[in-house]
Amino acid sequence: MDTPPITIVVARAQNGVIGRDGRLPWHIGADLRRFKALTLGSAMVMGRKTFESLPGLLPGRRHIVLTRDAGWSAQGAEVGHSVEEALRLANGERVSVIGGADIFELFLPIAGRIELTEVLREIEGDTTMPDPRSSGGWRETFSEDHGNEPLPFRFVTLERA
Ligand SMILES: NC(=O)c1ccc[n+]([C@@H]2O[C@H](COP(=O)([O-])OP(=O)(O)OC[C@H]3O[C@@H](n4cnc5c(N)ncnc54)[C@H](OP(=O)(O)O)[C@@H]3O)[C@@H](O)[C@H]2O)c1
Repeated sequence: MDTPPITIVVARAQNGVIGRDGRLPWHIGADLRRFKALTLGSAMVMGRKTFESLPGLLPGRRHIVLTRDAGWSAQGAEVGHSVEEALRLANGERVSVIGGADIFELFLPIAGRIELTEVLREIEGDTTMPDPRSSGGWRETFSEDHGNEPLPFRFVTLERA
């Protein structure tokens, strides 16, 4: 089976923070709208903690959840226990990898695109990820700056070089 296109969708502060206390550390409406537009119609892949942090099932998208717990299940979640199993479940559909940190690390080597929201501040938090550009091999194909809404941020698209 062909590997489906894989896109990482992540919002990251300048100091690497992506989460705090099991939630996003900011509320940026434009980012939530972009997340929805990017993920609609795709098979979302996420860690069990990110799934449990969602306000509920997100309409119009599949929820493929990675856990090491063979007994875990939840309504609306398709459960996988490895990258390979998650991709098998996606069954050729477009994949959006939506976090958190463990899951970004697992999929970074095989992702073809990163839709990054750079929050242009240092933010306090307990979950971080490295800047994907630090590993090289990515080229920026889109960048759009936004002012203080409520924090300055930038939408960036990175494609594998
Ligand atoms: N800013 C963003 O873009 C963004 C995106 C997503 C999440 N977040 C934030 O990040 C935080 C949650 O992320 P997190 O990094 O703590 O957790 P996570 O990556 O969502 O979930 C971690 C869990 O995934 C499962 N897992 C990890 N590696 C695995 C593997 N190799 N095989 C199978 N299962 C595996 C394990 O589940 P079990 O423990 O069940 O075995 C692990 O506890 C929250 O604060 C959330 O709001 C931010």
